[in-house]
Amino acid sequence: MAASVSGINERFESSYRRLFGEDIASQGDEAFFQDFYDRFFSHSEEIRSMFRNTDMAHQRTALRRSLFDLVTFYATGIVSARLRRIAQVHQDLHFRPELYDVWLDALISCVEEHDPACDEMTSLAWRLALTPGVTYMKLWHQTDISPLDGP
Ligand code: HEM
Repeated sequence: MAASVSGINERFESSYRRLFGEDIASQGDEAFFQDFYDRFFSHSEEIRSMFRNTDMAHQRTALRRSLFDLVTFYATGIVSARLRRIAQVHQDLHFRPELYDVWLDALISCVEEHDPACDEMTSLAWRLALTPGVTYMKLWHQTDISPLDGP
């Protein structure tokens, strides 16, 4: 992980390390992801109902790994096979793309809560780092083509 995050915004990188250490792909802060879903679900019944049959332990692990894919996209511009598959799964769910903004707000508020050294700039750095991946996911809901799949 160290190699792939080097060179990107320093504030984001240090906050990311404070929260998840070196290797979010294989382990992470479970309390962070529980809190994230509490925040995301508290937004609306619309969101809660989409997850009513979901195994949340599996979901938290999947989200932790996908966060790594979003950060990799920001740092390298590479869409991993996993990120592409996740985007496709979400396209098939046919929800309003505006819900990605709710998702991002929940994630950022969770960072602010769990990173004791998070200040306003750190929070903005996180938003900046996750926005390319979130935009990539959104595009799948807004076009008929598969974004970044080549010519
Ligand atoms: C960039 C933002 C998001 C990321 C990275 C993300 C990540 C994921 C991942 C990794 C999975 C598991 C996929 C699998 O293993 O098959 C998943 C499932 C799911 N996501 Fe998202 N998600 C995002 C935004 C959203 C939003 C905005 C919604 C809308 C409410 C949403 C609703 C769902 C639902 C309903 C599932 C399926 C749960 C199930 O299988 O029961 N996601 N998401």
